[in-house]
Amino acid sequence: MKLFFLIIFISQIIFSSHITHAETINLKQAPASLAKWYKPDNKRQVWLHTMFKLRRELQALRQYAEQEDKDSMRKWLINFNKHYNSLSDMIPEWKDKIKPDLTAQLVKFTNDENFYQVALTLNKISDSCDSCHKDYQAQVAAIYRSPDYSNIRIKDNDGNPQNIENTMQELSTYINQILIALSDGKNKQALTASNDLNLQLKNMGESCSTCHKDDAYPKERILGSMTANNIDKLQMNIREGNTKTSQKIMGEIAVTVCARCHNTHKIVSNLRTMLINKEATNIKQKH
Ligand code: HEC
Ligand code: HEC
Ligand code: HEC
Repeated sequence: MKLFFLIIFISQIIFSSHITHAETINLKQAPASLAKWYKPDNKRQVWLHTMFKLRRELQALRQYAEQEDKDSMRKWLINFNKHYNSLSDMIPEWKDKIKPDLTAQLVKFTNDENFYQVALTLNKISDSCDSCHKDYQAQVAAIYRSPDYSNIRIKDNDGNPQNIENTMQELSTYINQILIALSDGKNKQALTASNDLNLQLKNMGESCSTCHKDDAYPKERILGSMTANNIDKLQMNIREGNTKTSQKIMGEIAVTVCARCHNTHKIVSNLRTMLINKEATNIKQKH
């Protein structure tokens, strides 16, 4: 009897995990023509900066509508209308998401000093912003604004350029070599592997400026003096046979080097790769 229930129980677990795996999340696919308005196809993040302008202009319009300040409203309306209507010029596929009749009404109500109708119209425009954001904002940010490693090459310890996956495999191997050697009391091996790790991290440090240009801070944050100190301390402790302390420092390195970088680079990068592979037919060919 007990065995019977156990089997039911286990098959339920297996069955239900099957269901979870079969469930899919539906994300709407943003038009591939967006790439034109983002780096690297464009010099600037044009689409995103247009969004920032729209938010500021909408805030100014709300503020002056409340103050019933028609002249200031008219000044901001010129740019708002220009930017709002430019969205469908940039992405013709999204023409039906933009409501040009609302901006026309806004001008009319402003000229009439009908501030009650102005407020209602601003709300309707705001709804049109929200409706597009709900469908597209998250995936567009992940696709066009996350680090793209496809062209980054990092030297391995023999001086040969490698892609990011190979580099990461190497780093992971060195980290585990150190941990295995420490746990088995093989300090010489641990020291050798820690030299390999150190060299590989230095090589990787040369790649940061590809994206971070002349901003030295991001590299300092992850591969700067604190990490150099931690590696020195690690090697000192390995030499002195302080296994526990060495293991503790390894934990610190894993968090302050590996996990810290993964939070800003790996998580979004993996999401981006997943989204792009889904959209393989229209985005991959652009990059
Ligand atoms: C530049 C910041 C950065 C640092 C520092 C970093 N990683 Fe990564 N790591 C990444 C990125 C980006 C990916 C995703 C690569 C991909 O698959 O496209 C990744 C992926 C990985 C993977 C999965 C590899 C695969 O096959 O997909 C492993 C394992 C890994 N990192 C280990 C480490 C370890 C261990 C460290 C610390 C010693 C480390 N990483 C430090 C950025 C970093
Ligand atoms: C046709 C679709 C569409 C419409 C309409 C639209 N947006 Fe956006 N908006 C987007 C997408 C896509 C993003 C994500 C861009 C990114 O993160 O790079 C975005 C992002 C934003 C952001 C950036 C948020 C952040 O801090 O990351 C702001 C602000 C914004 N929109 C304001 C507005 C305002 C205000 C309006 C209306 C007046 C508007 N948007 C109308 C598509 C739209
Ligand atoms: C493929 C491009 C790319 C490469 C290569 C790259 N990063 Fe980044 N990094 C980004 C992007 C994009 C962001 C998020 C936006 C920003 O802060 O610029 C970011 C953010 C960061 C941040 C958080 C923001 C900050 O300034 O504190 C740190 C830290 C960082 N990177 C460190 C590094 C280090 C260290 C390396 C080299 C090992 C590196 N990055 C290599 C693209 C890259």
